[in-house]
Amino acid sequence: MLGRKVPAVTFRTRVRDEAVGGSNPFRWQDVTSDGYFAGKRVVLFSLPGAFTPTCSTYQLPDFEKLAPEFRALGIDEIYCVSVNDAFVMNAWGKSQGLENVKLIPDGSGEFTRKMGMLVAKDNLGFGMRSWRYAAIVNNGIVEQWFEEEGYSDNCDSDPYGISSPQNILAALKSRKIAA
Ligand code: BEZ
Repeated sequence: MLGRKVPAVTFRTRVRDEAVGGSNPFRWQDVTSDGYFAGKRVVLFSLPGAFTPTCSTYQLPDFEKLAPEFRALGIDEIYCVSVNDAFVMNAWGKSQGLENVKLIPDGSGEFTRKMGMLVAKDNLGFGMRSWRYAAIVNNGIVEQWFEEEGYSDNCDSDPYGISSPQNILAALKSRKIAA
C-alpha cells in the first residue's frame, strides 16, 4: 500500500442531532474517504473487532492516551477503522470514553477489502473482518505502513505489535531524527 491512495468509499456513520428529537436523537451521516483524509496527515489503524480484548484493553486505549505525542509529531487525527457497523462503533467509543481517537465504521468491509486487508474470521464466528494494520496517511496517500505478520484467513493467533501505537511512535520519531 506504500505510496498508494486510500480507496474512495462512503462510510455510513451515525451522529447525534438534537433536531431529531426523542430519546435516541441520532441520524445517518455519510462521510467519504476524502472527508476523513483530504488535507490531513493521520494515523489509521484497523483491528478485528470492536469490544474484542486486545483492541479494547491495549490498542485503542493506548492510541487514545498517546494522542498528544502523535500530535507533537505532526499527526492531525487518529482514526480507528473496523468492519463493524456505526451502532456498534458508537457504543464502543462511548464505553471507552474517547476524546482523541475517531472511530470509522466499515460495516460492509468495502474499505478494508479495497485496502487488501479483509480476512475471514469464520473460525471465531466473526465472518469477514480486518487484518491488523496501521498506516500514516498523508492527504490520502499511504506514507508509512505497519502490517502484522501472518496475514491469513482463519488465523488461529492474533499478532499484535507492529501496529501498536508505541511502535508507530518509535517509527515516527526515528524518521524525524533521520530527516
Ligand atoms: C482481541 O482483540 O483480543 C481479539 C481479536 C479478535 C478475536 C479475538 C480476540
